[in-house]
Amino acid sequence: MSVCSTTGLSQTQQERWPYLYKHLIEDIDVPDLSSITEAYISSLDGDLKKVIKKIGDAKAKSRESLTNHLTSLMFRRFGKNAMIEAFGSSVTNLSIGTGDLDLCLSFKNKTPRKVLRKISGLLHEEGMENIQLIPKARIPIVKFKDPRSGLDVDISLDNRLAIYNSHLLKSYAQEDRLRRLVHMVKYWASRRGINNAFDGSLSSYAWTLLTIQHAQLVQPALAPNRQENCPSKPLSFQGKTFDVGFNDDDFKTENTQSLASLLISFFDRYATRWDWESMVVSIRNGEAHSTKAKKWNHTGPLPLEVVTGVDDGRMEHVMPIEDPFDHEHDLSRVVRAEGAMSIQDEFMRVITMLSEGKSWHDICEPVFEIDEEPDDLFHDLRSTSKDEIATRLENLRANLVEVEGQIRDLVGERQNSKELLDLLRGGLRETRNVKSDRQQILSELRPLSMKVQELREVRDGINQRIAIPTKRIHEEMVRIFEKLTSEVDVFNAPNLGVEKGDFAYFFELQAMYEASLKSNEAHQEFIRLRREQNEEYRALKKTKKQEEDVLTKLVESNPALEGVHLNPKSVKEFQKNAKLLQRSINEQYSSKHELRREIGRLEAWQRISSKRNQNRGQRSSNRDSTRRRPRAPDVNINEVRQKASSGDALSLTELDALLSKGGIASIGNVSNEKSQQKQRQSKKRSSHKIDIRQGRRRGRKETRK
Ligand code: CTP
Ligand code: MG
Repeated sequence: MSVCSTTGLSQTQQERWPYLYKHLIEDIDVPDLSSITEAYISSLDGDLKKVIKKIGDAKAKSRESLTNHLTSLMFRRFGKNAMIEAFGSSVTNLSIGTGDLDLCLSFKNKTPRKVLRKISGLLHEEGMENIQLIPKARIPIVKFKDPRSGLDVDISLDNRLAIYNSHLLKSYAQEDRLRRLVHMVKYWASRRGINNAFDGSLSSYAWTLLTIQHAQLVQPALAPNRQENCPSKPLSFQGKTFDVGFNDDDFKTENTQSLASLLISFFDRYATRWDWESMVVSIRNGEAHSTKAKKWNHTGPLPLEVVTGVDDGRMEHVMPIEDPFDHEHDLSRVVRAEGAMSIQDEFMRVITMLSEGKSWHDICEPVFEIDEEPDDLFHDLRSTSKDEIATRLENLRANLVEVEGQIRDLVGERQNSKELLDLLRGGLRETRNVKSDRQQILSELRPLSMKVQELREVRDGINQRIAIPTKRIHEEMVRIFEKLTSEVDVFNAPNLGVEKGDFAYFFELQAMYEASLKSNEAHQEFIRLRREQNEEYRALKKTKKQEEDVLTKLVESNPALEGVHLNPKSVKEFQKNAKLLQRSINEQYSSKHELRREIGRLEAWQRISSKRNQNRGQRSSNRDSTRRRPRAPDVNINEVRQKASSGDALSLTELDALLSKGGIASIGNVSNEKSQQKQRQSKKRSSHKIDIRQGRRRGRKETRK
């Protein structure tokens, strides 16, 4: 794979960002849009009108009913404390029908603990899909998809500033051309895959701010600065104060430019004239702010350096866009290097295509397959036989019964597990004092046992050396003492040797006596401490018994606790089990909702088709005599076409059906359809992200006023 020696971009990257790449390696002039002809502008205007007619917010009703449903859900779960408020494009009139539903959940009093988890549990029970929690964000969010309406929903917690900035955008959207301009920019950005903040490009909100700034800068201005000369309205939020005041008055513009010409100048401005290095998009200023004054200078590597692996540092202020109320918030904070490269590539592409006179349809060719809504809810059933639908329904109903049974079992098991957990926790609480008593006893027992051992060693050590009891030693001492101190019989005087021996014996007895006393003393102390030790052992046994009694009581109230140890580790295991059970329950709930939905759809189709058949029957009996052509037999025409194209033999009924649906010529349609499908798929690009600073060197800079 060849890597470009000038840019460092790999072959794949060159193909991914072709316009930007060409612009970087070839010293070509940026297309000049000032020479675009009036005829092209007016044809572009025609294109835009067609798209505008199509895009209206078809899902407005679904948004409203989903908002009501979620409001009552939160009310049921959190009571009057919870409030839900919509913001974003469902209130700003800036929706192009493809956007998400943005809701803000706030609490009048204290926010309940683990609120995101609780919401996620509720949503699971409601059958919502792709539920994701983003608890660590500046504003915590739960994202999910409502499978019924197909709407993506963001519920953010206490997102007060967003409510206010949505009102500000709604105020700007009063101007019809500005509203349409935002629609077209969002339409282009979403079809070209560059309006997803979670994917590292810009949010719809950021594109809207870019458009408003453009409307403020065109001459004559299409939009005023609504935050200028208006009473301030301070709002305290997250420890800071923001001025959320703005002027909602009507603004009469003198600008008469067409939508197409406003759109062309929008792209011209941001693709070539805006110096992203020194200018900050700032609608509260009514014109660009300077990065220097805001201290928002770009830091870190350039997007090109990141995508080519030269530098993996963090980029700051790559496309500075100031939030109108939170002036420290740069909306390009979420833009990653690939996103920046794609945005820049798309800017280069759009101005090139505009300069070549391309249609809006071509300019907005989707970079990924757009999930076109099927023609109707029953599109896949139209060619399915009655019998097959009946069999499918039977299977689905059987599955539903099974899933409902599993849910009942799991819920019962979770309930049981919760009860056990509560019992265990209660037991732990009850034995908390006993446990601390035991710790106390054990801590006293340890030195006591050591002392007992020490005394035993002293006593036994002496007793090993002196086998005679103390009393006998004393008597012997008295006897020798008397012998040594009795009056001397002059006729029978002891000789010196005997006298010396008696003295030595006396001193020996004296030493023995002292040692023997010490041994006795040690023994007495040993006995006393042994008694104390036994008492402690008894107390220890008592605590064990108390604990056993608690556990016996627990087992009596729920035999499932047999063999469970009464300690925090067991509690943790039970908690883990309860969590796993909850997860399985949520999964089963999702399956149940899916099954119900599909059953409902098939049943509805059965009702519709049987009614239709009745009507047909009536019509045909009315026209019986004038009947010209028999009705096509009730077989699956696609299967018949497949069969015919693969050369299999056809029955008479099948042949009849084939002839009534276009004959042999229609066989090719099957493979044609397939190849078209393939072609559509090959257009799908795996990813589509972007840089904004590469083109600036060549751009004609727009000077700030
Ligand atoms: N918002 C914000 N700060 C951001 C992004 C969004 O305050 N960084 C708020 C704004 O109030 C904005 C709302 O979230 O109006 C919705 O943002 P987004 O979905 O990007 O814009 P929409 O106009 O709703 O676009 P779409 O129709 O594509 O959903
Ligand atoms: Mg939105």
